[in-house]
Amino acid sequence: MDLFEYQARDLFEKHGVPVLAAAIATTADEAEAAATKIGGKVVVKAQVKVGGRGKAGGVKLAENPLDAREKAAAILGMDIKGHEVRTVMIAAAAPIESEYYLAILLDRSNRTFLVMASVSGGMDIEEVAHTAPEKLAKIPVSAVDGISLAKAKEIIGAANFPSDVADQVADVLLKLWEVFQSEDATLVEVNPLVKTKDGKVIALDGKITLDDNAEFRQPDHDALVDHAATNALEAAAKAKNLNYVKLEGEVGIIGNGAGLVMSTLDVVAYAGKKHGGVRPANFLDIGGGASAQIMADGLSIILGDKDVKSVFVNVFGGITACDAVADGIVQALELLGDKATKPIVVRLDGNNVVEGRAILAKAAHPLIEQADTMDGAANRAAELAAK
Ligand SMILES: Nc1ncnc2c1ncn2[C@@H]1O[C@H](COP(=O)(O)OP(=O)(O)OP(=O)(O)O)[C@@H](O)[C@H]1O
Ligand SMILES: [Mg+2]
Repeated sequence: MDLFEYQARDLFEKHGVPVLAAAIATTADEAEAAATKIGGKVVVKAQVKVGGRGKAGGVKLAENPLDAREKAAAILGMDIKGHEVRTVMIAAAAPIESEYYLAILLDRSNRTFLVMASVSGGMDIEEVAHTAPEKLAKIPVSAVDGISLAKAKEIIGAANFPSDVADQVADVLLKLWEVFQSEDATLVEVNPLVKTKDGKVIALDGKITLDDNAEFRQPDHDALVDHAATNALEAAAKAKNLNYVKLEGEVGIIGNGAGLVMSTLDVVAYAGKKHGGVRPANFLDIGGGASAQIMADGLSIILGDKDVKSVFVNVFGGITACDAVADGIVQALELLGDKATKPIVVRLDGNNVVEGRAILAKAAHPLIEQADTMDGAANRAAELAAK
C-alpha cells in the first residue's frame, strides 16, 4: 500500500525524523484555518499518490492564510495524472539552502535492501539518475545488519554529503531505517531532504510503501487505507479473502490458480476481438480448495458487477477434484437463487473431470453451459457477453 505524503510525514514524526508542522485540509476554509494555526509562510501541497506533483502545479508557496486559501481552492479538484486532488497538506515553508535525496528500498533482483542517496535532490532527481548516475550513490544494506551508525557514515561518504550536515543526515538515516523496519515498508523515500538556511536538516517530502504481506502484524496500518479510492467490489472481495481485481471488460472470470486465471484473461481478450471487442471484467483466483462457499462468494462478487454480461468459470482439477468444484458451483447457484442472472460458461478439466461434468449435466441449471476446451469456453463466454 502506498501512503499519502501526509501519512508518511506522520510516520516520520512518530519515529523522530525531523519534519515541519503540517495539517491536512479538504476545503479552502480548512486550508486557511490550518495556515493561520501554523503561522507565517506555508506551502499548499496536493495529496495524490503519484510523483511529479510540483511540476504539475500541485505544490504552491503561500505568503499568508488568505493566499493559502486561494492556492488550496486552485489545487483542490485538480487532476494530476488521472488522480483527483481531494486533500491538500498545508505545511510550514522552509527556507531551503540545499536539496538532498535519500531512499531505502527493497531491491528484489539483488535480494537485498538498498539505500540511494544524492546531494542533488529535488524535483529533477529522475533526470540526475539518468544523465549523471555517478551523483546517485547506491549502497546495499543487509536485512540482518540493517543501518548502523557506521553504515550511515559509509553512505554519507559515498554520496559526498558536506561535513557540516553529516551528523544530522546520519541521524536521519538511522531513523528512516527504523521507519522502514518497524513499519514493514518496502520503500521509504525523502525528496527533498533539505538543509535550511540556518543549517537544519529536515524531510520536506516523504513517500512510503508498506508491505501488504505484513498487514497481520501491523494493526495500526488499517487506519491508513484510503477507502474512498477502493473499489466497492474489491473491498467486498477482500472481506471474503478472495484474490480479486476489477478490470474494465464484460466477461466475469473465475479460475483456480493465479497462472490459470492470467491465461484465461488472455484467451478471453483474444476471443473477444471476434465479438465486438469484449474483454475480461475481472481477475478472480479462488485458489486450491474451491468449496461451495468460496465459489458462491466468488460468483456473487462477479454477478454484483453491473458491467458483467457473462461469466467464464475455468477450473483445472488438481488437488481439488472437478466433482467437488461442480458440487460447489451447483450449491453456489442454490445459495444465490434469484441473484444469479447471467449466463455462466463452465470449463472443467483435470482430476475427476468426467464426474464433474456429469454433476453439472444432471443439475441442468438454465444459466450453465459447459464447454470442452478453454478456447471454446472463452469464445462462447465472449459471444454471450456481446449479445
Ligand atoms: N515545506 C516546504 N517548504 C519549502 N519548500 C517546499 C516545501 N515542500 C516542498 N517544497 C518545494 O517544492 C518542491 C516540490 O515539493 P515535493 O517534493 O513535496 O513535491 P514533488 O517532488 O513534486 O512531488 P513528488 O515527490 O510527488 O514528485 C520541493 O523540491 C521543494 O523545493
Ligand atoms: Mg518530492
